[in-house]
Amino acid sequence: MEVLIAQDPAEAAKRAADAVLDGLRRVDGHRLVLGLATGSSPLGLYAELAAAVARGDVDFSETLGFALDEYIGIAPDREQSYRQTLLNDVCKVIGLPEANLNVPDGMGAARAEIAAAAAAYDAKIAAVGGIDVQILGIGTNGHVGFNEPGSSLASRTRIMRLANQTREDNARFFAGIGHVPTHCVTQGLGTLREARRLVLIATGAAKAEAVAAAIEGPLTASCPASVLQLHPDVVICLDEAAASGLR
Ligand code: F6R
Repeated sequence: MEVLIAQDPAEAAKRAADAVLDGLRRVDGHRLVLGLATGSSPLGLYAELAAAVARGDVDFSETLGFALDEYIGIAPDREQSYRQTLLNDVCKVIGLPEANLNVPDGMGAARAEIAAAAAAYDAKIAAVGGIDVQILGIGTNGHVGFNEPGSSLASRTRIMRLANQTREDNARFFAGIGHVPTHCVTQGLGTLREARRLVLIATGAAKAEAVAAAIEGPLTASCPASVLQLHPDVVICLDEAAASGLR
């Protein structure tokens, strides 16, 4: 595990983008497959990737994108859906075609339908040869993707009930906590661990406790991000505030 501590969020974003690009440079002989996180943390990283595209260092026009997660019950054309968020904040920014974006389906009529689509999502990732680089943020409760505390470290893409803390943290994207969905579909910890490289970015003091638990704490389902300790190629990019809980 490589832990990079930058002075500020802008520098952390640059280093995270470099880690993504390094991971993609190793790809030989197949289309690039990029795992995409939503949320505030990676926005600077995506801006840095856009700058790399503008410089001609990389081209995402043939790249396949796979989202980490999606809310259940938010139609894919609604602004708060992760599909729309990724189209606006990532696809348009880095030039990844909409047709190449894959997002878990949270709109099945019945639970069994959503669960079947989740299993098909894992199968699709496997069918394209796996994710080359997975971009991650971390929740204040230590979640990665929406794998909330208590998630099996071997879990697959599945339906998850969102923790109250997560719903509170994400209420800023909705007209109040009552509008935040209660459930989502998320890549499992076992799924996201199969990506060849993981790049996690975290900034700000609110993430310090979760970051310390993930990096220095025991491997435990109580801090799902601690599963990163098992991965052979993880780069964690922090600013000083997010790193302030490290010993
Ligand atoms: C997003 C995701 C979440 C976020 C995490 C941090 O697709 O899966 O794990 O990365 O909740 O969110 P922000 O970056 O908004 O603090």
